[in-house]
Amino acid sequence: MTKKEVKTKPDKSNFKVDPWNVEGNIDYQRLINEFGISPLKEMPSVFNENVLFRRKTIFAHRDIQRILEAIKNKKKFVMMTGLMPTGKMHLGHMLLAQQMVFYQKLGAKIYIAVADIEAYNARGQSLEESRKNAIEQYILNYIALGLKPENCEIYFQSQRSQDANKSNAYYRLQNLLARYATFNEFKAVYGDINPGKMLSALLQASDMLHSQLPEFEGTCSVIVPVGVDQDPHIRLARDISQSIKSPSFTQISSTYHLFLPGLGGGKMSSSDPTSFIALTDTPEEVKRKINKYAFSGGQATIEEHRKLGGNPDVDVSFQYLKMFFESDDKKIEKIEKDYRSGKMLTGELKAYLIEKINAFLKEHQIKREQAKKHLDRYFK
Ligand code: TRP
Repeated sequence: MTKKEVKTKPDKSNFKVDPWNVEGNIDYQRLINEFGISPLKEMPSVFNENVLFRRKTIFAHRDIQRILEAIKNKKKFVMMTGLMPTGKMHLGHMLLAQQMVFYQKLGAKIYIAVADIEAYNARGQSLEESRKNAIEQYILNYIALGLKPENCEIYFQSQRSQDANKSNAYYRLQNLLARYATFNEFKAVYGDINPGKMLSALLQASDMLHSQLPEFEGTCSVIVPVGVDQDPHIRLARDISQSIKSPSFTQISSTYHLFLPGLGGGKMSSSDPTSFIALTDTPEEVKRKINKYAFSGGQATIEEHRKLGGNPDVDVSFQYLKMFFESDDKKIEKIEKDYRSGKMLTGELKAYLIEKINAFLKEHQIKREQAKKHLDRYFK
């Protein structure tokens, strides 16, 4: 395939999305149909003030209306999600972190699972390594992004709580859920499956459901924001939660965000250093990476670009501005128009993005240093 063809028409015929693999150019419409999730429609104004919702970076859901009702009626609700504590925290992970902060401000109780058991079983990473990495890479960054210790519990899958009643309830639930899952369901949901992955999936189901146990918040609405690769876990948890009679669970809700494109296209991934900008990158690294690796929707020469214009739809720098760094709708529209018409050049677009990212990271990295003092308040 020539470069030009890639630019205008990414080949979406051969992609793969499951909890342990994301490959190729993702056809989100097809995922909506295959997974049976619903496109996210018009949202109440508090959601629309958030760029991720307004610009449909969060694009689909299951049962979001239950959460909207809880917010409207000022009822208690939980936001529960988890992180895989491998690699560096990069801009792609920031999508989820921003949602944690958003829901906390809306009044949700926040539960965050560090998937160290899953990292052990599915990725071969030791518990010690996961603990260290989760704190240094992820949790300090969450705090710097505005996550507050009040109404927030962060825990490790390998160590739910110092309180034995709570801990027992969490692991008990994982074990009780096992009865309602069948081997065929596992195979259908996950394809390639082994005992470690099965246990991790059941533990993740307990992550998503245990906040409703009497030892925790009691029955209530729970929203689980995730990347769309996690939907198989959500389907499994939703399925078994409705079979189990005691305790009884309110069906969980979920939302799905797009994957942040990697610098070269595809998905931003911590296993490929040329694909990501980390939240700990220096200004020089940001500049070098964007200039060197960020896939451009521009033309090969300035003359051609002026004549034919660029394609913001496939331009990675433009996507980063749209998803995070240019929250002003008028400005992003103008950039889109000027880039498409050829008035704005790729070099100018990249320079603008580099400036925006570095301004953000400068502040962020100071806050990340300050966060070190407050870590203990997040683990209960
Ligand atoms: N499996 C998730 C990941 O790979 C991490 C995770 C663990 C999770 N428990 C969760 C996500 C509960 C959402 C809800 O990133």
